[in-house]
Amino acid sequence: METIYIAFAPLQGYTDAVYRRAHYRCFGGVDEYYTPFVRQEDGAPRIKDLRDIDIERNEGIPTVPQVIAKDVDEFARLCDALQELGWKRIDLNMGCPFPMQVKAGRGSGLLQYPDRVEAIACEMQRRPDVCFSIKMRLGQTNPEEGMTLLPIINEMPLTHVTLHPRLGKQQYKGAVDMDSFIIFNEKCRHPMVYNGDITEVKATAIPKDVKGIMIGRGLLAKPWLLSDKDPKSALQDMHAEIYRYALKNLCGDSQILSRMHAFWEYMNVSLEKKQYKAVMKSTTLLRYDEAVAHCLSMLHVE
Ligand SMILES: Cc1cc2nc3c(=O)[nH]c(=O)nc-3n(C[C@H](O)[C@H](O)[C@H](O)COP(=O)(O)O)c2cc1C
Repeated sequence: METIYIAFAPLQGYTDAVYRRAHYRCFGGVDEYYTPFVRQEDGAPRIKDLRDIDIERNEGIPTVPQVIAKDVDEFARLCDALQELGWKRIDLNMGCPFPMQVKAGRGSGLLQYPDRVEAIACEMQRRPDVCFSIKMRLGQTNPEEGMTLLPIINEMPLTHVTLHPRLGKQQYKGAVDMDSFIIFNEKCRHPMVYNGDITEVKATAIPKDVKGIMIGRGLLAKPWLLSDKDPKSALQDMHAEIYRYALKNLCGDSQILSRMHAFWEYMNVSLEKKQYKAVMKSTTLLRYDEAVAHCLSMLHVE
């Protein structure tokens, strides 16, 4: 495969700063790591989200912080908060399909409001110090919604547009709509990044003129996918780093185990069913340690 831009997709609940750092150190092969979205809570940027994008916590890791907003006011407040922290790079989420966000007009819900998107576009113009990008779906209920926004998107100052060619209402069901991606790609004046269902690094139906690809669940399932490191020892190393963090910073076995179960959750494809279940069902650290030792020795890395 020729060298193109490769991004690790943001995955709320999985790719926090600890995961991103451990993956970067142990595997790499990724150009940039997008953070799960920072959102407003009770009129202010959520403290827990800001902690995850703290500059020090992300130092040395190529990180792109992401925000989610329902209108220009929310967007501006979130940009202020990120710029105050020192960020000069911000990705806007226009693709999250979770009903709570969509109902509030955020994520793929925002795609139904061209006037709000237009106001956000003007706000981006007012912040020339920031490099913006957007991550979107084709639409919330039909692909016309994204096409309607194209003239506005084309006027936004963006490094690229990442497009996951499904509708918000599909969430993750159904096939990706490659035809709609191709049409959008032809009409969009910004470089495009393809996102959706990439699980292997080999020639696919993705148009050759894209700037790059973004991979989410495929990398959670196979963190070694883009790396030339030895998968077993690097995974052992990555697991050890995240586990050390969890043991030191989280309270009680159940919090620690739920953090570690998230690490393994998507790796079922690379593990025997029995071993996977033993890890995911472990309720004590002792059982967890035993199950993980077994898993790491039996990992299928093809
Ligand atoms: C559990 C979960 C959490 C996600 N969190 C975010 C998020 O915070 N921001 C975002 O833009 N997309 C989020 N996504 C969407 C992914 O970034 C990505 O667009 C989607 O999984 C499709 O790509 P993939 O098939 O390579 O996983 C999330 C997806 C999942 C399954």
